[in-house]
Amino acid sequence: MSKILVTGGAGYIGSHTTLALSEAGHEVVVYDNLSTGRAEAVIPPARLVVGDLAETDRLNGLMRRENFSAILHFAGSIVVPESVENPLKYYRNNTNNTTELIGLAVRHGIPRFIFSSTAAVYGMPEVIPVTEDTPTQPINPYGRTKLMSEWVIEDTAAAHPQFSYVILRYFNVAGADPEGRIGQSTPNATHLIKVAAQAALGRREALHIFGTDYDTPDGTCIRDYIHVTDLAAAHVLSLGHLEAGGPSGIFNCGYGHGYSVREIVEAVKRASGVDFSVVESPRRAGDPPALVSNPARIRSTMGWQPSHDDIDGIALSAYAWEKRLELPET
Ligand code: UD1
Repeated sequence: MSKILVTGGAGYIGSHTTLALSEAGHEVVVYDNLSTGRAEAVIPPARLVVGDLAETDRLNGLMRRENFSAILHFAGSIVVPESVENPLKYYRNNTNNTTELIGLAVRHGIPRFIFSSTAAVYGMPEVIPVTEDTPTQPINPYGRTKLMSEWVIEDTAAAHPQFSYVILRYFNVAGADPEGRIGQSTPNATHLIKVAAQAALGRREALHIFGTDYDTPDGTCIRDYIHVTDLAAAHVLSLGHLEAGGPSGIFNCGYGHGYSVREIVEAVKRASGVDFSVVESPRRAGDPPALVSNPARIRSTMGWQPSHDDIDGIALSAYAWEKRLELPET
């Protein structure tokens, strides 16, 4: 099987995908600076090389030594409010580093590139669910840096026909490995399901609902939550698609239906059996009222079939993982 470079493979989605790649028989080398990732999340036989994407000499040497047939690029910064306060960090870590990485891929003749993009590229879409052809109008620096990276990838592929890509636009990723080996360990995470699990464990005093006056059935925002294991499987399929000579493309990764913040809170309460405190709070800046995917393209092109499309299962696995983490993270 092929040898794959996974940047950011010690992080949340990268570590689950690394595990899925190893289980599918691929040889994986993870490259991660451990700024938010954890070395223990890289499960052997995958190997970890600690390094920063900005260290291009180190990356160059790694690519010279190893004969990679594909790069899966997860490493990046992902916190929307931080991107508003510190945009240059995001332009450097996301757009610049992706550009340099693609330059190295071209230089070393690495033919396949799979990129972690985001539903944040759609901004506040007028029509829900969104297809890949919905106009991209990101409303924060995070979304812009990811969209710019998409353009770098597309333009490079147009100029270098041997370079093929899959761009996956993730909706709201949640849950943890059902066998409990890995999960979302990112410090100071802001993701709703993780924060709710922390509230259930008493590691936060309460869960704040950001906005209850949206134009949605219960007044809270609606999102399309996808289990991280199904997302990892989408990456393995994407690699197979490119290896089989399939065309480059952009694919939404979600289930195609949404849950409100209140529905998520109820699911985490059911999973934990804890009736934790919930505080209705003002809206958070930059939140679109509803963001739900149309995942028809990835289903038909790659035969992707989710096996964890169950909000109670997602909440249970997220809660079980949170419980295993020893230290409060707030
Ligand atoms: C955003 C990004 C996504 C990124 C993710 C992680 C967009 C459209 N999406 O997702 O690409 O990967 O952040 O940074 O920008 N909520 C609460 N209380 C909380 C936490 C969240 O009410 O304590 C609400 C939010 O207001 C939102 C929903 O829950 O309506 C989901 O929030 P979150 O989990 O942070 O993800 P997004 O902001 O949707």
